[in-house]
Order: sequence, then C-alpha cells, then structure tokens
Amino acid sequence: MMAMRSKLVAGNWKMHGGMVQNQALLSAIVMGTAALRKADFAVCAPYPYLSQTQTLLRDTPIRWGAQNVSQYDKGAYTGEVSAAMLVDFGCRYVIAGHSERRALYGEDSHTVALKFKAAQAAGLIPILCVGETLDQREAAITEQVVAEQLDAIIESAGINALVQSVLAYEPVWAIGTGKTATPGQAQDVHAFIRDRVAAHNPEVAAGLKILYGGSVKASNAEELFAMPDIDGGLIGGASLVADEFIAICRAANN
Ligand code: PGA
Repeated sequence: MMAMRSKLVAGNWKMHGGMVQNQALLSAIVMGTAALRKADFAVCAPYPYLSQTQTLLRDTPIRWGAQNVSQYDKGAYTGEVSAAMLVDFGCRYVIAGHSERRALYGEDSHTVALKFKAAQAAGLIPILCVGETLDQREAAITEQVVAEQLDAIIESAGINALVQSVLAYEPVWAIGTGKTATPGQAQDVHAFIRDRVAAHNPEVAAGLKILYGGSVKASNAEELFAMPDIDGGLIGGASLVADEFIAICRAANN
C-alpha cells in the first residue's frame, strides 16, 4: 500500500540572520511560495528572531520553529530555552539532535531523547536528525550509527511518539560541504530507517516524514525529492538565499 505523505521543506538558518535580512528573506519566501499548495514549508530561526518570524509568518501557510530546546521544563538553567517558551512564540517545529549539537555541544542520544520528549510534551513537532560521519560511512557502519540514534528515541519515547515527529537523515559529511549524498545513497538510508520503524509498527512507518539534509540546493532538490522514501528536505545554507529556498520549495511541491 502506497502511503500518501505530503512533503515538507524546512529551513535551518543556524546562527545566521539579523532583523533586516530576516525581513527581506521571509517576505520573499512568503511571496515566492504563495502559489504552492501541495507541500508544507517551515523555517527554523534563531531564538531571538522567533517573535519577528511569528509576526511575519502568522497569516501565511509557512510554519516556523527553533533549532534547539532544553530538555528541562523550567528552573536554574542559565541560557536555556524551554519548549513552552517556543510555544509562546507560535513555533510548530523544533530541531532535535542536529549533528552540530551532537558534535560541538556534546549532546548524546540520551539528551536528544529527553529534548524530543520535552518538545512533544509541549505540543511541538520535533525534527529528529540522524546521520553518520565520513569515517563511519567509510567504515561501513552507517546503518549501525543511524539505528543507534533512532533506537534511542524509540526506546525512550515509544514507537507511537514518531507519529507527531519528523525525521531528518543528514549525513555529517554532506552538511555545509557542497557534497550532497546521491539520491541513491540517501534513498538507501531512508528506506533503512523506514524499515526499522516498520518492524515496530508499519502504519507509523508509512506515515513518517523522513527529510534529507546535507547540501540540498535548487539544482539537486528535484532528483532527491523524487526518491520514494525522501519526503522533503532540511535545508541549511540554501535556506538563507530566497531564490534558492523558493526553488527547493517548488521542487517539493511538484
Ligand atoms: P546544509 O545544512 O544544507 O548547509 O548542508 C543542512 C543542515 O545542517 O541541516
């Protein structure tokens, strides 16, 4: 049975932007995607710009979110931002377990699982990132690495928690490097992820959106999104360039 999954394109601005640039970028994206009705679009902005993003997107079909969230509800956690705070600013999504958080800020799978659960408990949809490094791919342990990252969530949150979530397969060697996984390489891992979820619950697997991330651009989006298990993209660098991002949104809408 073919599941009908609508596609999602989410921008991950990372630590980029400013009041003036955001205004221009968001206005351009609103206009450039206005006629696209089949796919869903979102931007994940830095915390300080969530209010601005909410103001500019609230009456549009484009959703927004954050790039990280605390695993805690409230308390003496200087510098942290809770899931409830993100809800206050109208966020629908939050990225959990991005490889930059895992590598640069020491987030392990246990912490990522707590963040995933904290996000869902507040009503947010976590975008859970998984993916292998170049060393791991060359050692032929891609599936093992991705399985471990995925299993940590399933064990902690339960298989049904994946219903209110989005997955993103992001090979670390493809992030910000210009080296995109080939559609075939990406599809193989996406199918592996979906099969692993299906072993727990086929229906959850059939409905699960699995995005690809890693140097997606206008010129390669269409062939990636044509793969049967690729349900859209998580877009870093190209999400900062209005024309590029809009073209990627258009590719997802086709
Ligand atoms: P990139 O980043 O598109 O710049 O490779 C993707 C990501 O890190 O989510």
